[in-house]
Amino acid sequence: MAEPGGERPVPAGGGRPAAAGGGRPAAAGGERPVPPGGERSGVVADIERVQEIADYIAPLALRIACTYRVADCLIGGPRPVAEIAAEVGLHAETLRRLLRVLAMRGVFTEPAPGVFALTPLAQLLRGDHPLSLRDAYPMVAADLHAWAGLEETARTGTAAFPREHGESYYAYLAGQPAVSRRVDASVEAQNRLVVRTLIRAYDWASCGTIVDLGGGTGLFLAALLARFSRLRGILVDLPHVAAAAPRVLAARGVSDRVVVVAGDYFATIPPGEDTYLLKTVLHDWTDEHAGRLLRAVAMAMRPDSRLLVLEAILPDGDAYHVGKLLDLHSLVLTGAPDRSREQLIELLHQAGLETVSVTQTATLAVLAARRAV
Ligand SMILES: C[S@@+](CC[C@H](N)C(=O)[O-])C[C@H]1O[C@@H](n2cnc3c(N)ncnc32)[C@H](O)[C@@H]1O
Repeated sequence: MAEPGGERPVPAGGGRPAAAGGGRPAAAGGERPVPPGGERSGVVADIERVQEIADYIAPLALRIACTYRVADCLIGGPRPVAEIAAEVGLHAETLRRLLRVLAMRGVFTEPAPGVFALTPLAQLLRGDHPLSLRDAYPMVAADLHAWAGLEETARTGTAAFPREHGESYYAYLAGQPAVSRRVDASVEAQNRLVVRTLIRAYDWASCGTIVDLGGGTGLFLAALLARFSRLRGILVDLPHVAAAAPRVLAARGVSDRVVVVAGDYFATIPPGEDTYLLKTVLHDWTDEHAGRLLRAVAMAMRPDSRLLVLEAILPDGDAYHVGKLLDLHSLVLTGAPDRSREQLIELLHQAGLETVSVTQTATLAVLAARRAV
C-alpha cells in the first residue's frame, strides 16, 4: 500500500522508553542517573517498562481510536485534534489526551502541539490497509466485565464470562446482535494475516468440498474458494453469525459454491463430505466438549475424508506468540485452553482420529487427520 504523505517517522525506539535493561539485575548497577535530555537507563527504564506492561489504559485508548476511525481521518496528513474530534464526534480535549497516550507508544505522533499524524503502527489502523487491524480491537464492555473476574478465574481455573453474565459467551452473543457484529468484525480483522499464511501452507486445491464448522462469517472459506476455483464449501455456524455470511461470500464472488448452514455443530454436521475444517474452534472448548465435537465429526466423515484442525501451537519458552495472549482470553471467556501439539494429537486420537501431518506456519498450525482404521 502506498505510504501517505502525512506519515511521520516514529521516534527512535517506536516512541517507547529507551532500552528496558533486558533483565539486568537492578542491584548490579543500582539506580543510574537520568542523563541530560531525559533518556532513561538502568532501573528507571526497568520501572517504566513494568509500568508499560501493567497499563490497561493504552489498550482502551487504542480501542476508542479504532472505534472512531481516527487513523482514517489522518490519511491525508497531520491534522489539528479539534478537526479530527469534530469529524469523528469525540470531545476534542479528551481526544488530545487519549492520542497523547498512544503517541507515547508509537501509535500516532504529535509533530506539533495539538497536531497528530500517522506512524507506521497507525497505518495498520487505517480501514483501507490490506492487513487492517482497525476492527480487531473493538470496545466490548461485556468482555471487560468478564476480565474484571480474572482474580476468581486465577483461583479456580474457571471461565469468568458465565460467572459475570449468567450465561455462556456464545449464548450471550446470540442475544446481543450489535456486540456479536463487533466480535465477528474483530475475528475477521485478526484473521487477515492468518489467512495469508495458511493459504500458502497446505494443498487446499485437493480438498474438494470443505465443511467449515464454526466458520464464522465465512472469511477464510471465501478466501480459499476465491483462490482455488474447484473448491466448494459448506459453512456451519450459529444462526446470528451465519446470517452475515452471504455478504462476505458475495464480496469474494464465491456465493454460488457455498451452502450456508445456520445451526449448532454439535447437532448438525453434514455427513460424507471430502474435508472437514475446524479453524480455531477447539480452543473454545474444554477436552470434554472438544472430544464430543471431534467424535461427531469422525462419525460424519467417510473413511477417506480428511479433517483439518487449524489451531495455534504455542512455542515453549519466552518467545512472543499472540496465541499466548489469546489463550488467556479464551480462558476468561470460555474456560478452554490452547493446546500443545501433543495435546491436540491426543485429543484427536481419543476421538478415533489419526493425525497424518502437522504443518506449522507463522500463525496457526495445520493438523491433518483421518479416521483411524
Ligand atoms: C473462535 S470463532 C472461529 C471462527 C472461524 N473458524 C475463524 O477461525 O475465523 C468460533 C466460531 O464458532 C462458532 N460457534 C460457537 N459455538 C458453535 C456451535 N455450537 N455451533 C456452531 N458454531 C458455533 C462461533 O459463532 C464462532 O463463529
